[in-house]
Parts: sequence; C-alpha cells; structure tokens
Amino acid sequence: MFREGFAAYVCLLLVRHCANAMPLKRHQDAVNNRPIIGILAQEVFDDVMKPFGKTYIPDSYVKYIESGGSRVVPIRLTLTSTEYENIFRSINGLLLIGGSPDLETSDFARVSRIFYELAVKANDGGDYFPIWGTCFGMQLLTALVAGENLLTLTPAENITLPLNLTAYVHSSRMFKGFPSEVMTALSREPLTGNFHNFGITIKTFAENEKLHKFYTVLSTNVAENGATFVSTMEAKSYPFYGVQWHPEVNCFQWDPDMQFPHSPYAVRVSSLLAEFFIDEGRRSLHSYDTPDEEASSLIYNYSPMYTQNFTRYEQIYFF
Ligand SMILES: *[C@@H]1O[C@H](CO)[C@@H](O)[C@H](O)[C@H]1NC(C)=O
Ligand SMILES: *[C@@H]1O[C@H](CO)[C@@H](O)[C@H](O)[C@H]1NC(C)=O
Ligand SMILES: *[C@@H]1O[C@H](CO)[C@@H](O)[C@H](O)[C@H]1NC(C)=O
Repeated sequence: MFREGFAAYVCLLLVRHCANAMPLKRHQDAVNNRPIIGILAQEVFDDVMKPFGKTYIPDSYVKYIESGGSRVVPIRLTLTSTEYENIFRSINGLLLIGGSPDLETSDFARVSRIFYELAVKANDGGDYFPIWGTCFGMQLLTALVAGENLLTLTPAENITLPLNLTAYVHSSRMFKGFPSEVMTALSREPLTGNFHNFGITIKTFAENEKLHKFYTVLSTNVAENGATFVSTMEAKSYPFYGVQWHPEVNCFQWDPDMQFPHSPYAVRVSSLLAEFFIDEGRRSLHSYDTPDEEASSLIYNYSPMYTQNFTRYEQIYFF
C-alpha cells in the first residue's frame, strides 16, 4: 500500500513538473469530471437537407465527443452576443466541425469568432478553455489567427492517408498519450480520412508570421495536385487544436461509398484523440448556473434524424 502510494506521489510530482514546463498558462489543479463540450451547428447548403432545418450537426461529431467521456451542448447560430457569453461561461470546450460556409463572412465564422475571442481572453487569464477544429473548423482556426482567408486548392476528396509526422510531434500535447505502435501505424497506414478541396499549404504556413508564431505543425500531407498541406496542428500557448482530416468518421460513419478508415488502429486513433480533447475539457471549471439550465441545454433534448438514405451521414441533428 505504502509503495503504491509513494509511486502515485512521485507520478503526481512528475505530472506537475511537466505541466509547469509547458508553455500554456495552466493554473488550475482541480479536475472537472462532468465536462460539457459545445458544438456549433453548421449551416445547411445541401438541397436534400434543406427541408429539415437551416443548421445541422452530424451525429458522428456528437458521438465522437461523447466517446471521450463528455456531454454535448449544441450551439445555434442565431443567438445574441450575451447569450453566447452565457454559454461560454457554462461549457468546458468547443468543437468546430466540418462544412463549407464562407470562412470570413458566414454566421458560422461570426459565431466562431465570438467564442474564439472569449477563449483567448479566458486562457490569457488562467481560465483554461480548449477549442478543437476539424476540417473546415481547422481552416477557420487559421483564419481567426491570421485575420484573413489563407486557403488554396489542396484537393484530397474521399482519400485516406498516413500522416507525415513532423519532428514536433514528439513534444506535442495531442499525441503525448499515444502508444508508440499507434504512432507508427499512424505514420504508415492510411488511418486518416480526407474530404476537402481547400487547405493551408506548408508554404502559406511558413510565410504567414501570425500563423507560424501561433501554431505548430504536427503533420503534413500531399494533395492530389501535389501541394503539401498542414494536416494536424496545435497552438503553442493555447489549448487550440486543428485537424484537416476527420477523426470522427473512423468510429461513427459507415457509408460504403466513402473512404472511412475502420481498422483497429483507425479506431484507436479516433478514440485517443477524443479522450485527449475531453481531458483538456476537464481542466475547465465552467458550469451552468443551475441543473435545470444544464439539462435543458444538452443535446439529449433533441433527436437525430435517420439520414442514411439521402446523405453520407447515418444520423443528423437539425436545428
Ligand atoms: C514528409 O515531410 C518531409 C518534411 O517534413 C518531407 O521532406 C518528406 O518528403 C515528406 N514525405 C512525404 C511522403 O510526403
Ligand atoms: C470514394 O473512394 C472509393 C475508393 O477509391 C470509391 O470506390 C468511391 O466510389 C468514392 N466515393 C465517392 C463518392 O467518390
Ligand atoms: C429515407 O428513409 C425514411 C425512413 O425510412 C423515409 O421516411 C424517407 O422518405 C426516406 N427518404 C428518401 C429521400 O428516400
């Protein structure tokens, strides 16, 4: 018993030491084991989806967040700034999902900016608040830092790829908990599903000072036109993370016409990243003012619709 206790104490010291050595301003030792992640609803463009709502969230993203041990709050695009501030004070992280609205002028971009600015301010003040961007969400994270749309053509539509990991991956937060055999698989096997036409090339990234001062590139990939694009990145001093690929499809999307990786390692990669992001959310102590307000905000108040027969998604929440 004593030995175990001692080992745990040494571990704690090591963990504290590591945490202190990180560039992030982490002051909180308390852990929130009932995290809630907000997911911004995406704008509907697809004609077949229009009859059901103006905005939507594919259930795969909801399940992805839930698989890491979190609950989900959907966030609509039609609220006031005050309402967004209230939501921000109540949730423990934000997921920006894929889609195709305008990177600068859309409602999705406008609401993302509100949360992004709140998150930067909060983190600066020692109030930990993580943001994860997937595909369009990652592209948005680059525009929010750079203040401009830096996208160029990097077509990789319906293609699975191994990640070309950079040297920074070994000191990254995102991949810190990955067993070495999963990292090896990630760099050799096509475990990442790509569904994009645009992206941030490494040339753009290297040339934009705002971008490369803020983010570290953890992996790159080559598009069908030969352009090398940033496929994974994490912010240097903020808990902000971006992937140009789609970790959620590995576990939660099954359209046989799409290149969705479902091998055991593909599932591990998806699960480990979901767990990593939710761990980040556990560092946030934001909470709803009342249990009733929390209960009425959660995704459980909505039912996903069966959409497998007319979209690439099995289930979608419409708002
Ligand atoms: C991986 O990236 C390195 C630069 O970081 C580059 O030299 C190499 O050619 C890339 N490999 C592939 C397979 O894209
Ligand atoms: C996706 O790629 C697979 C494998 O190349 C192909 O069989 C399938 O038709 C593609 N789906 C679409 C929608 O292009
Ligand atoms: C999809 O399936 C649902 C439920 O079976 C059905 O009500 C709906 O009409 C179908 N939609 C299309 C476009 O086939």
